[in-house]
Amino acid sequence: MCGIVGIVGNQPVSERLVDALKRLEYRGYDSAGVATVIGGKLERRRAEGKLVNLEIRLREEPLAGTIGIAHTRWATHGAPTERNAHPHFTDGVAVVHNGIIENFAELKDELIASGAKFETDTDTEVVAHLLSKFRREGLGRREAMHAMLKRVTGAYALAVLFQDDPSTIMAARNGPPLAIGHGRGEMFLGSDAIALAPFTNEITYLIDGDWAVIGANGVHIFDLDGNVVDRPKQLSTAAAYMIDKGNHRHFMEKEIYEQPEVIAHALSHYIDFAGNRIKALSGTIDFAKIPSLAISACGTAYLAGLVGKYWFERYARLPVEIDVASEFRYREIPLPSEAAALFISQSGETADTLASLRYCKELGLKIGAVVNTRESTIARESDAVFPILAGPEIGVASTKAFTCQLAVLASLAIGAGRARGTVSAEEEQVLVRYLAEMPRIMGQVLNAVQPKIELLSRELSKCRDVLYLGRGTSFPLAMEGALKLKEISYIHAEGYAAGELKHGPIALIDENMPVIVIAPHDRFYEKTVSNMQEVAARGGRIILITDEKGAAASKLETMATIVLPDVDEVIAPMIFSLPIQLLAYHTAVFMGTDVDQPRNLAKSVTVE
Ligand code: AGP
Repeated sequence: MCGIVGIVGNQPVSERLVDALKRLEYRGYDSAGVATVIGGKLERRRAEGKLVNLEIRLREEPLAGTIGIAHTRWATHGAPTERNAHPHFTDGVAVVHNGIIENFAELKDELIASGAKFETDTDTEVVAHLLSKFRREGLGRREAMHAMLKRVTGAYALAVLFQDDPSTIMAARNGPPLAIGHGRGEMFLGSDAIALAPFTNEITYLIDGDWAVIGANGVHIFDLDGNVVDRPKQLSTAAAYMIDKGNHRHFMEKEIYEQPEVIAHALSHYIDFAGNRIKALSGTIDFAKIPSLAISACGTAYLAGLVGKYWFERYARLPVEIDVASEFRYREIPLPSEAAALFISQSGETADTLASLRYCKELGLKIGAVVNTRESTIARESDAVFPILAGPEIGVASTKAFTCQLAVLASLAIGAGRARGTVSAEEEQVLVRYLAEMPRIMGQVLNAVQPKIELLSRELSKCRDVLYLGRGTSFPLAMEGALKLKEISYIHAEGYAAGELKHGPIALIDENMPVIVIAPHDRFYEKTVSNMQEVAARGGRIILITDEKGAAASKLETMATIVLPDVDEVIAPMIFSLPIQLLAYHTAVFMGTDVDQPRNLAKSVTVE
């Protein structure tokens, strides 16, 4: 996902712009650039690859100016080359863009027909040409901006500089987020509050359809009809979090080890520890009244939702319809308008998840958002927000957000069970006590299993294919383990319901493909042991992740057995997430991949 920053300042901006881009690196990118207006002329520097290459360019050819825009590009149209890097220039206009201009092809044909010369393969360039065209036709800067916005369709966050106006940045948002930062005699623009944290914590978020004229002393915001609109100024908490790795090699490692702390933080929002019960979540979803629940999300968030489905069905006896967001809204699921829908998203900006939310809103369902970013679009468009309070998650591979999502979903499912009378007060107390033990147990596990997993990861890094198996809530965990491994180590991995082994995957079993079996000693354990015997009988190598009871009961010879404490089923998914996260992390470190920013991936996918 691209990153945008802008400064209308009273001091040199190019270095500060690049520093702000560094706080957006976690979003994933493959080229970057910066533009300023100096001496009545637009100037830019761009570079392929990492920001360090742009910094080298700026050292070679410094860029003066107290107003500027900058961009990290995650290529959608056109290869990740310097030529395609933003900012894009046409006569008198510089543009940076996050998103996809869906009608760019027809606009490009129209502009070429009227004499425009295109230099890049990007969709963004049509925006710059449209603005130049309207200016040539005599429109002022604001009129040209407004006219352009009336022509383009699609998802965009835009920042625009006009050569003949060194005191104003124009911005527009339709989909990907844009935040305006209020400084002292300076104003800022960024894709999120994290980018602006060093400059200010006073933030105004644009909403879809807004466009803005940003000067050094303030901002004017308009809607698509050109009416002045007022958007609230709020205090961002992003600055409160240290966005650095501390003494860890990677953000992912830091975030894995933050889990005991952030889980405690998340639980405190949902649990009354004194009363050993789930707090009443007033003004949210009335779980006692809804006939069913829909859940939709993407990637790891979807897998958290899949674990949540088991809990809502088991504890609240609530039928749950779940699907990945890119499929959900096309299935035309018969959802009663009295139902509720939960959308799970760390970033709160994932396009497919947002589209599914809007689909359910159209159907009249009550909308709940389980998000890490309260100021996000998904949160803003929901009736009820359930924050996961994991703190900024910088590593592209989601770890602490996943276990915090699980902790929140477990709390909601138990609370829903209480509300529906399917969980007694006594059962609630027992379940809540198990949840309350999680931070302590997670801390123990992380320190206990790390050395063995690091050794095992060296073996795993030599493999080409890995199969993960699990039953019950360990089945979504098997898929999450496979997703973690593939997305950061680039080793092919699949997660399967253990009971499906004989229905196909068993054909893959040989000594070259380790089988990672997630098997707490729960009601499925014996059946999973049979699956492991089937694997062993065919020369397969097993990595067993189990608990003390499971280890004592297992007679099988394994490649390795990771032993966790005996824990209740309700917290097993959070506890068993830790070894699968560490296994993926250390394997990727041995592979030498870019752990925090794996190739081709973005932290939040704001395009469909
Ligand atoms: C998880 O490790 C991945 N980075 C990815 O699957 C992610 O979970 C997915 O893109 C959803 O993102 P969201 O939670 O911000 O909506």
